Amino acid sequence: MGAPTWAPLRPCHLLLLLGIFLFLLYLSSWHLQLSLSACVWGGHSCPWLGETLPEEEEEKEEHVPVSAPTMTLKTPLPLWGEEFNIRHVQRAFKDSLTPRGEILLREYLHGWRQLTKFMDALGTAFGLISQETQSKITIMQQHQDGHHGLHYRTVQSMVNFELASGLVGFQTLPATQPPSGCRTLLRLHRALKWLELFLHKLGTSQKDDKPYQMCLDTYREALAPYHSWWVQHAAALAFLAMPSRQELYRIIFTRQEKQAAQAIVLTTVESLGRVYNVTQDVYSAHGMLELP
Ligand SMILES: *[C@@H]1O[C@H](CO)[C@@H](O)[C@H](O)[C@H]1NC(C)=O
Repeated sequence: MGAPTWAPLRPCHLLLLLGIFLFLLYLSSWHLQLSLSACVWGGHSCPWLGETLPEEEEEKEEHVPVSAPTMTLKTPLPLWGEEFNIRHVQRAFKDSLTPRGEILLREYLHGWRQLTKFMDALGTAFGLISQETQSKITIMQQHQDGHHGLHYRTVQSMVNFELASGLVGFQTLPATQPPSGCRTLLRLHRALKWLELFLHKLGTSQKDDKPYQMCLDTYREALAPYHSWWVQHAAALAFLAMPSRQELYRIIFTRQEKQAAQAIVLTTVESLGRVYNVTQDVYSAHGMLELP
């Protein structure tokens, strides 16, 4: 008596709604995974986003098996297989900058491999961006291992070589050509700014600060301007999977290092910042900050 007639139906409605929601979530995550990674970094055509970027076969070169490594190791570098260690990031980026202000690409890429380990350690939050970063590293590695490898010793020598040979691709590249080192490095360069800002926030954060918010704020500042509306929202969604601040520090440091944790993060940020600034100057001097 007096009970509304719709009351017994409510659980059914809820279940139905939940089902539809989960189904949509499943569909969208599946769809995003397939399509997003292809156009996160721009330069790709993203038909489902309605973008009209020129067709560019960027991934084409990436699956060509790399011939036997021809790198001549002068200084021993830590093995790739090791777990993430922020000291390796710091050292690699520090070593990449010579006293004459050149950026050594081998060390730079080594630093990036460490940074992708960091992103991978954070789980799905950075998954998309980590994947794209790795493909950029692969392209750069192929330039280094290729015929003109000698020109890819430093950022400066690469820029000079590609400018002189007309390889930069200020408008677009012919589909038959691999993406230029300049435009590939530019993608890494922009992402480096983001990680620099994020690690700086993390290194200066207080106990109750939320990594999700730090991540989102720095992403909006450094990377979002280069991404489409859809990618920006997908990235923001993915950041929700960020671990807590405490968990982040656990990932970055072993137990003994906890005391010096923030200091190490900030030293690393300093190294990233120096390398970023030099790269920025080189690119800006040649009007290459907006390469497609
Ligand atoms: C990089 O350049 C910015 C802007 O010029 C400057 O504020 C910052 O201190 C520089 N960073 C480093 C590590 O030199």
